[in-house]
Amino acid sequence: MPLHVVILAAGQGKRMHSALPKVLHRIAGRPLLAYVMDAAMALKPERIFVVHGHGGAEVKNAFAGAPVEWVDQARQLGTGHALMQALPRIPRTATALVLNGDVPLIRAETLRKLVRSAGKGIAIATSDLSDPSGYGRVVRDAKGHVQHIVEQKDAKRAELAIREWYAGFLAGNASRLAGWLAKVANRNAQKEYYLTDVIGIAAAAGAQVSAVKATDSREVAGVNSREELAILERAYQNGQAKKLLAAGVALADLWRVDVRGELECGRDVSIDVNCVFEGKVRLGDRVRIGPNCVLKNVTIASGSEVLAFSLLEDAEVGAGCRIGPYARLRPGAALGEGVHIGNFVEVKASRIGAGSKANHLAYIGDAEVGARVNIGAGTITCNFDGASKNRTVIEDDCFIGSDATLVAPVRIAKGSYIGAGSTISRDTPPGQLTVARARQVSLPRWTPPRKKPAGEK
Ligand code: UD1
Ligand code: CA
Repeated sequence: MPLHVVILAAGQGKRMHSALPKVLHRIAGRPLLAYVMDAAMALKPERIFVVHGHGGAEVKNAFAGAPVEWVDQARQLGTGHALMQALPRIPRTATALVLNGDVPLIRAETLRKLVRSAGKGIAIATSDLSDPSGYGRVVRDAKGHVQHIVEQKDAKRAELAIREWYAGFLAGNASRLAGWLAKVANRNAQKEYYLTDVIGIAAAAGAQVSAVKATDSREVAGVNSREELAILERAYQNGQAKKLLAAGVALADLWRVDVRGELECGRDVSIDVNCVFEGKVRLGDRVRIGPNCVLKNVTIASGSEVLAFSLLEDAEVGAGCRIGPYARLRPGAALGEGVHIGNFVEVKASRIGAGSKANHLAYIGDAEVGARVNIGAGTITCNFDGASKNRTVIEDDCFIGSDATLVAPVRIAKGSYIGAGSTISRDTPPGQLTVARARQVSLPRWTPPRKKPAGEK
């Protein structure tokens, strides 16, 4: 039977108290809706419909090019009403799988089970693994058959005590669903057309209602408030941390690491507390990352060490390097083997050859630095002339004295020595000492200015 998926994503998410539509809030840097779409796509359905409404254009733009069809729900009159907008576009014989867009960590495996269990009736995903408050309770009869779902706001005392709740996913034949849905009214606490009312209507009509219980409490957690989002983020990160540990990565603390993308690690990698990894990060064997580092789209070869409080973005680091503490590698930084980049050193769009060192307080931008170069504290490549960026070339084996100012475009030839405090604005010859600073003078007949005694005018 053909499978069609409907994702409900039109709600505002009032309880988030945010201008951003709820399904665009993020877990590990990705919108909630992206996860639900992924789970849907894993099932390879014929089509995926996304019902959008609140902040519709913003939601659509965030997923430009996604292989889904957008269905507009101009007024958000409830989850049942949301599904009604999409059903006419689904063939009568198809199985419709309906997913809440704000329950991000659902696994494709659970959805497959749901579709298999639906048969000619209807299947719902439920959970009794965590606190049911806020969710719709699943009411069963004495024999254990599902009778109906009652929303928290409409539930009686005894119903509120029920542990099993609706997780926000159901599957059923499209034409039967449409028939049941047509009978849903909005006589309830929220004056909404509840999708969950379909269950009671189907059961009363004699249809089989099966419940698939989730086996992992994270996969059914809905996001309705900032607190739920924060709790789920941490649960998700903890899950990723456990995977890293299982793969042999030494994490100092399995609650204090954030991976917002892909982190690939070699053998015996160690990561201290409070590090954030974004985009694609690859760490070679024995790489050590100190506490409080942020790495975004970075590749680091084996044996390198990043010390505390360093920020690396779109950079490539060779083997055996030492970066930080307090170092910043900006986009286009490419370090060869054994390079040292120390505290308060910023490197941007520059290649730095093997064995070169800039250990303290320097700016290296738009530069080509050779091998075995020593860059003294306070050295600046003046790459910007107010209009355009210019390149600095420092060839192999140069020694750049402290506080040198290299005014680009400029070439420091192989083996040059630059005297401390020099402002270099012309190319230097190889193997010579170049000094470009005022000569030091001392004035023997100089007298210090006299301070006026107190009271004197
Ligand atoms: C819903 C269920 C509840 C279940 C819970 C699981 C209903 C009536 N209740 O409650 O039984 O335990 O999910 O997480 O379905 N939406 C629309 N259009 C609307 C209203 C909502 O597209 O008019 C979308 C929202 O964007 C959201 C989803 O439907 O992605 C669920 O809506 P929400 O208001 O969050 O329902 P809950 O109160 O969480
Ligand atoms: Ca919800």
